[in-house]
Amino acid sequence: MNYKFTSRSEEDTIEIAENIESEKFPGMVICLNGELGSGKTVFVKGFAKALGISETITSPTFSLVKEYYDGEMPLFHMDVYRLDEVSEDFGLDDYMNKDGICIIEWPEMIDDQLPDERLDIKFKVVDDNTRILVFTPYGQMYEDLCEAVL
Ligand SMILES: Nc1ncnc2c1ncn2[C@@H]1O[C@H](COP(=O)(O)OP(=O)(O)O)[C@@H](O)[C@H]1O
Ligand SMILES: [Mg+2]
Repeated sequence: MNYKFTSRSEEDTIEIAENIESEKFPGMVICLNGELGSGKTVFVKGFAKALGISETITSPTFSLVKEYYDGEMPLFHMDVYRLDEVSEDFGLDDYMNKDGICIIEWPEMIDDQLPDERLDIKFKVVDDNTRILVFTPYGQMYEDLCEAVL
């Protein structure tokens, strides 16, 4: 089942990220799909703020992963857009075993490495300020989470 949410502002996207954060659990994986400028990093910022991370979230550029440890749980923010070789082993498993939260931008780059159980969010640009977010949960934990939040 898919859940659709219409975000009419950056603040709306931050709020939905905060709501999802409130249902977090260790080992959680969230995959953010959508074109450049669709709001993926805004979502990560909202989630990080709710986790209590004080550091400013910027997209990982030189590294593919940024690690934040000053929140309630570790946050691993991955932007694999610049992964050199599609399918290069990225080591996602190692991060998933650290009892933190992995949020991945451009997950299609590591399609074959994604876990079966995860939350996918597809961002679609409607106009300057409007985005449609389509949530697809895979696995009971993520289905329950969507039920609770959306
Ligand atoms: N409803 C919305 N949700 C999220 N971002 C929005 C929204 N409306 C406008 N924006 C703007 O779109 C841009 C999204 O940037 P960003 O999150 O970095 O995109 P991405 O990481 O997907 O490339 C920001 O400049 C933000 O202010
Ligand atoms: Mg981004």
